[in-house]
Amino acid sequence: MSINIEEAKSILKKYGQEHILNSYEKLDDHYKKSLLNQIETMDFELINSLYKNTDKKEKNENDEITPIDYLDKYKLKDEYKYYENIGKKAIRGKKLAAVTMAGGQGTRLGHDGPKGTYDIGLDSHKSLFELLSDTLKEEGKKYDVTIPWFIMTSKENNKDTIEFFEKHKYFGFQKDKNIFFFNQGELPMVNTEGKILIGENGLIKQAADGHGGIYESLVKTGMVKKMKELGIEWVFIGGVDNCLVKMVDPVLMGIAIDKNVTVACKSVVKANPHEKVGVFCKRNGRPNVIEYSEITDEMAEARDKNGELLYGESHILCNLFSIEAIERMGASPLPYHVAFKKASYLDENGELVVPDSPNAYKFEAFLFDAFAAVDEMAVLRVKREEEFAPVKNADSVGIDCPKTARELYKKFYHID
Ligand code: UD1
Repeated sequence: MSINIEEAKSILKKYGQEHILNSYEKLDDHYKKSLLNQIETMDFELINSLYKNTDKKEKNENDEITPIDYLDKYKLKDEYKYYENIGKKAIRGKKLAAVTMAGGQGTRLGHDGPKGTYDIGLDSHKSLFELLSDTLKEEGKKYDVTIPWFIMTSKENNKDTIEFFEKHKYFGFQKDKNIFFFNQGELPMVNTEGKILIGENGLIKQAADGHGGIYESLVKTGMVKKMKELGIEWVFIGGVDNCLVKMVDPVLMGIAIDKNVTVACKSVVKANPHEKVGVFCKRNGRPNVIEYSEITDEMAEARDKNGELLYGESHILCNLFSIEAIERMGASPLPYHVAFKKASYLDENGELVVPDSPNAYKFEAFLFDAFAAVDEMAVLRVKREEEFAPVKNADSVGIDCPKTARELYKKFYHID
């Protein structure tokens, strides 16, 4: 049972958000109920404090950033087999699950639908989801197991994603047995005065809260419990937009197990100092990623005595966690980063406004901010041409686009 209108008014008054009920009377009963429910469950304290922080510089300039140690997978020599054997044993023992973060829409690609449903233009016309599922199934076969697959969707694309999988018979996976879907969280968007936006449907306008919410979502939606029931001990978390993502890597797992670390991540050498990727580093002595939007030119261009970039280990969103680490990370909130975006909304007269320049703040947590919670993690440098073919932009941009991803994919799989 939700709160009544008077209770809603009093909550909103406390937080200076009374305008949220402006169009209440025009809504049908179903939407009225949904709006009251949103008001009841919303963390207005959090929203107000996030808004207050929008004018503060995000990262502490006094943070001490230093390079991080890494292992190069192809320079491992004898240890390669050693780690691989440890990892293989764990995979055969059904200890590994894979999670794909698929909360995004394909807007930047000009695709109307969940990003994972995008066809990168191969002759097979397989979607990103199908390409990922092919790799996961192939890898599983090598070890005579089916690696359970968990797909994180956002509220915006959950229905379309599940329908897409249903249409494709879950690519051979079995729903709720070895393929699972869960939703990530959302946060409202606020304007430059700190007022929460109302969407076209008369409800509070919310947006996905970034992939940093994944740990909490995995716990809250019961996925961690499910994983434990399946005997899972290690969870690979990757993005949906890398068609060469290798979710099953016995060497990476072997390193994590042998070195007794709870987080192990893959990196590739940064293509050039200004490539738009985050890079691994240590922040105040703890593992971290410094995003491309934050790194200074000086830091991006700095080289070591061998001429290699000092901050050259790119974060490719290929990260392995122990299940305990996920639970721990899910219990402590991460900081939110702010983005200024274009967002349509209903004004005080209930009229739809479609802005042509950014007008609202969106708050997102980043999964890698949780790395600081561990003392040590392993970073494994792998080969870009084997593991990183991102699909981020439309072909007209020319980089990290369907054309470049397709070429990399074909080269790797020897397709003419
Ligand atoms: C991201 C990384 C960057 C990395 C690069 C590699 C962040 C903030 N930065 O940049 O360090 O070098 O990828 O390709 O992630 N996603 C969700 N829910 C959300 C937001 C994102 O599921 O709320 C998923 C997307 O579907 C995608 C992945 O996370 O699979 C990456 O998100 P995106 O916002 O595209 O990150 P990039 O800016 O490309």
